[in-house]
Amino acid sequence: MFKDLENKVVIITGAGSGIGKSFAENFGKAKSKVVLNYRSDKHDDSLQESVDIIKQAGGDALLVQGDVSKEEDVINLIKQTVNHFGTLDIMINNAGFEKPTPTHEMTLEEWQKVIDINLTGAFIGSREAIKQFRDEDKQGVIINTSSVHDTIPWPNYVHYASSKGGLKLMMETMSMEYAQFGIRINNISPGAIVTEHTKEKFSDPKTRAETLEMIPAKEIGDAQDIANVALFLASDLAHYVHGTTIYVDGGMTNYPAFMGGKG
Ligand code: BGC
Repeated sequence: MFKDLENKVVIITGAGSGIGKSFAENFGKAKSKVVLNYRSDKHDDSLQESVDIIKQAGGDALLVQGDVSKEEDVINLIKQTVNHFGTLDIMINNAGFEKPTPTHEMTLEEWQKVIDINLTGAFIGSREAIKQFRDEDKQGVIINTSSVHDTIPWPNYVHYASSKGGLKLMMETMSMEYAQFGIRINNISPGAIVTEHTKEKFSDPKTRAETLEMIPAKEIGDAQDIANVALFLASDLAHYVHGTTIYVDGGMTNYPAFMGGKG
């Protein structure tokens, strides 16, 4: 279906688990050359499983360790990619972190950690990818994994919501700057998605029921739902899609409290 993704070189940050792992495997199935970035070796088995899936499907894979919040690690990630595969076509800034804390108890360290990974990490990744695209005069693609919380406020997650709100305007600004060169920059904003990170909270019956209340489609999504949109956004089918956010959330951003027709 996404024939043009064959042999494309795609970097995915935070590819060791969750949505990033699904991105990696799906691009592999489209026969892309996938660079799986991961931060810690606790994902070794999962990464190896993804590499096997990618290679069996006819794609190629390269593992590159690195912390996206460290400038030198991201520069190294792009360098290793270009050294190994000769080019870069698609950059997916996916690595993210979340942990709830009431605002009045949040330390500067806690705030900074989330901003550094979710926002600054995507800034460095985008900047380095754009540099590479411009050097090669290439019409590359950047996709950031954002969140419904780039628009829905989220109590106890002020750092997270701020990072994702910033990511939205960052993407829109960069897109306005580089669309003229054919570089397409867009965000995907997932809602409630089951991954190993959220499995526990969504298997709690009370949390699950409360979450479903906020989803018009009455269904929690999975990583494949997000990966499908990433494949589309990376492909030529999306050649006229610039500077936009695709919400993949079962309608969560659409004021579900109004479902009953009151108000
Ligand atoms: C978070 C999830 C949360 C969802 C909906 C996402 O950005 O990563 O933990 O369930 O937003 O609130």
